[in-house]
Amino acid sequence: MSVPDRSQLMEKIVSLCKRRGLIFQNSEIYGGQNGFWDYGPLGTELKRNVRNAWYDDMITRHDPLDAPAGAPRPFQMVGIETSIIMHPQVWKVSGHHDLFCDKMVDCKDTHGRYRLDHVTGRWVSGKIVNSTTGQAEESAGRYFVTAIADDTVIQEAITAKTLKLFGLKNKEADKLEWLAPLASLATIPYSEYAGVVAPEASRAGTLTEPRDFNLMFKTIIGALGTQDDAAFLRPETAQGIFVNFKNVMDSSRVKLPVGVCQIGKSFRNEITPRNYTFRSREFEQMEIEFFCQPEDSPRWYTYWRDRRFAWYTELGIGPKHLRLRDHASDELSHYSCGTADIEYQFPFLSEEEYGELEGIAHRGDFDLRSHMEGKLHTGPDGQLQVELTADGQPKWRGSGKDLTYFDDASKQRYLPHVIEPSAGADRATLAFICEAYHEDQAPDDKGVLQTRIVMRFHPRLAPIKVAVFPLVKKDGQPEKAREIYRALRDAGIATTYDEQAAIGKRYRRQDEIGTPWCLTVDNETLANNTVTVRDRDSLEQVRLPVDDVVNEIARRLRAPWAPPA
Ligand code: GAP
Repeated sequence: MSVPDRSQLMEKIVSLCKRRGLIFQNSEIYGGQNGFWDYGPLGTELKRNVRNAWYDDMITRHDPLDAPAGAPRPFQMVGIETSIIMHPQVWKVSGHHDLFCDKMVDCKDTHGRYRLDHVTGRWVSGKIVNSTTGQAEESAGRYFVTAIADDTVIQEAITAKTLKLFGLKNKEADKLEWLAPLASLATIPYSEYAGVVAPEASRAGTLTEPRDFNLMFKTIIGALGTQDDAAFLRPETAQGIFVNFKNVMDSSRVKLPVGVCQIGKSFRNEITPRNYTFRSREFEQMEIEFFCQPEDSPRWYTYWRDRRFAWYTELGIGPKHLRLRDHASDELSHYSCGTADIEYQFPFLSEEEYGELEGIAHRGDFDLRSHMEGKLHTGPDGQLQVELTADGQPKWRGSGKDLTYFDDASKQRYLPHVIEPSAGADRATLAFICEAYHEDQAPDDKGVLQTRIVMRFHPRLAPIKVAVFPLVKKDGQPEKAREIYRALRDAGIATTYDEQAAIGKRYRRQDEIGTPWCLTVDNETLANNTVTVRDRDSLEQVRLPVDDVVNEIARRLRAPWAPPA
């Protein structure tokens, strides 16, 4: 069993996702809409299973009576579901209106727009030639030739572009005189932009000065709405939880510590969406705001950081591709005692690089205090304070509502501190897909060795859990197979039925979409009421009484699972 070379792996995964209905390009028949993706029938099941695994672990199966392993004490977890559009003041107070920006640059020649830190380039010495006349445009100079590409191929992309700019042939690549290593455009001062060749440009000096671009999508509310009625599609689900903190506490008899959880769509007008679904403009988040006593918050931070890391490994992401990266103390806000990212080694990144799946942040009382008092910023004494205008008024007013909590046990009133584990459902789904992809060689029905693709999803995540086949389409086998198929579906187990093609081909079809078990009805079934159960990973086949099938599959689905070594 092997994983293909990294450079081909992503291509193979994208192709499989389209071929088998996991992920489609959005509006593909119209040429696609950049930064938006659709899930096909199997992708919908997979992503729903990812969401359910999160919701079940966080809420449905959470036991508030006992402290789970590693937790400082028992705690409660509840779910809420809030609107995508919220009062515009929410985003002013939270800081998103003023600060949720990326730096971007525009190309005056091609009208391309790029996120500054997504453009990579390299200083090189040479002469740019006119691609039509073949004549040198200017005397030899120093150019920062740029491109946007996955890290694994960025040097190749820049080399190809430089050869074209200098009118050289591919075989002349060794003549290029590189002056410095690869660097992000974000590291190049604007005073040097005269030498920068934009990603799609054919001459230097066409990029504008970097400027801020707010990532929130704007929309207008009401039929007669004007800019004054502008609202935003939420860029995170978290604010829906903060503004409902009081409602939840007043309505559900929960006590601190409590986690309030939400799964929902978020929208960010990313300047350069890229890397498949990794950076999309519409995506889904799975967020927890865990409210606790300030003194306990460091211990809760550690608990959530470790617990959320374990969630990914228990669902089959190998430690080889996953890491927990603690932010350095100088990266932290002064009110925070820790932030960590859970990161996955996606195949579209270079080997040393990891992409963020989830951030776990200790946020102190920043969010509740902002919604009480107004937008906060760090004052001259390094402490948080309400940001004021020149005439001494709050720049953005908070709600003025009291969001403090009265703790019956300690008879104290305080503003809870918050630990925020914030995950992306689409990124998690993509990581589970990348991790599951395997190839091996197995003989087909004619004994010829073929490449077999196996998606080794954790059975809880697999879009389909069981495929039921009659060995042949006669002798009462289809009728018996349909009976078993219906019994599994009635028990709520995602099951498919297939009687088309040779049995080996049917197994391959299921391996390719990660179905953990195939049940085959044969002559023996009709004689002794047993079926064979084939395991996707071990390829082991065992016979099972038909009457035990539903219970056995349900048992296997509950059991811990690890990918075969
Ligand atoms: N409330 C905190 C927050 O939103 P974030 O790090 O900006 O934090 C949390 O986002 C998670 O949401 C990320 O770790 C990632 O999984 C997901 N996410 C963020 N931007 C995304 C995008 N453009 N496309 C897909 N997922 C994204």
